[in-house]
Amino acid sequence: MRVVICGAEGQLGSDLVEAFREGGAEVFGFDLDLDITDHALVMERIPSLNPDLLINAAADLDADGAELDPEPSLRVNFTGNQNLVLACQEAGCPLAFISSDYVFDGRKGSAYDEFDEPNPQGVYGKAKLASERYTASLLPRWFVFRTQWLFGKRGKRNFVKSILRNAREKGALRVVTDEVGTPTHTGDIARVIRDVCLCGKYGLYHATNSGSCSRFEFARQILEAAGWEEVPVEPIVYADLNLPCPRPPYSPLDNLNLRLQGFPPARHYLEPLKEYVDWLLDSGEL
Ligand SMILES: NC(=O)c1ccc[n+]([C@@H]2O[C@H](COP(=O)([O-])OP(=O)(O)OC[C@H]3O[C@@H](n4cnc5c(N)ncnc54)[C@H](OP(=O)(O)O)[C@@H]3O)[C@@H](O)[C@H]2O)c1
Repeated sequence: MRVVICGAEGQLGSDLVEAFREGGAEVFGFDLDLDITDHALVMERIPSLNPDLLINAAADLDADGAELDPEPSLRVNFTGNQNLVLACQEAGCPLAFISSDYVFDGRKGSAYDEFDEPNPQGVYGKAKLASERYTASLLPRWFVFRTQWLFGKRGKRNFVKSILRNAREKGALRVVTDEVGTPTHTGDIARVIRDVCLCGKYGLYHATNSGSCSRFEFARQILEAAGWEEVPVEPIVYADLNLPCPRPPYSPLDNLNLRLQGFPPARHYLEPLKEYVDWLLDSGEL
């Protein structure tokens, strides 16, 4: 199987490269060396690789920046994916698009499954939903994987690294209580995405670890995993931060479709969190 992965240097993309290679696939990984917003370049490079599957893990994650200046975000998160859909049409292969809990408004009051109606509140979430719909309407074979609160070895930033860096540098933290979700380890979820793609059950999936918590609770659990429980964490709310992008207040993703298709539940996020924090502290990656 020949698999092309865009965003291959990112947190999830790099673990997808590893997971597909472990599964025996021939993997071609690209990141900024193949700018997905460049239609001519995408059409020149991707179909000629004759892929059996293309995965779009490339994204512009700056949700606040997108509210202030939408076009850079839309260019990557919508137009970039549009180019990859067109490349898949040319190559006759399926696309797996990685999406987000930000397609939901977070006001349902319980976990979202794949049958819930999206209602994105910001530019980033709107671009993700538009890309989901564009992918599904133009390609006969597609996957959409919605995930959230990722932490993994590669990539420049994530919540776990930020909490530990700020704890080390500032000695005290302020973290919001009014955003609840599921922290998700990119290695765990990359293997799930691989297994779904390899079994060819096309469609929409919510794909996260299990369990859920608020950002505040997660920060405390990160500090505990590091043995830094003494660092004080002040509970605050998003309104205190004046951020441009509204966050979904409660958006854990129920992995209903994975269950329906017979996949086992992913492990609780606290297990990979402990392994990840140990790795961050031991490897000097922090
Ligand atoms: N991180 C989360 O908590 C989270 C939550 C829900 C959903 N997701 C989704 O999961 C996917 C993977 O996220 P991630 O956390 O792994 O992100 P990431 O670490 O930022 O990886 C994305 C990669 O795409 C690259 N990229 C950006 N613009 C590109 C372009 N025009 N052409 C080619 N590559 C480009 C980035 O390069 P630079 O870093 O140099 O820009 C980065 O290496 C994304 O679709 C994201 O929307 C993430």
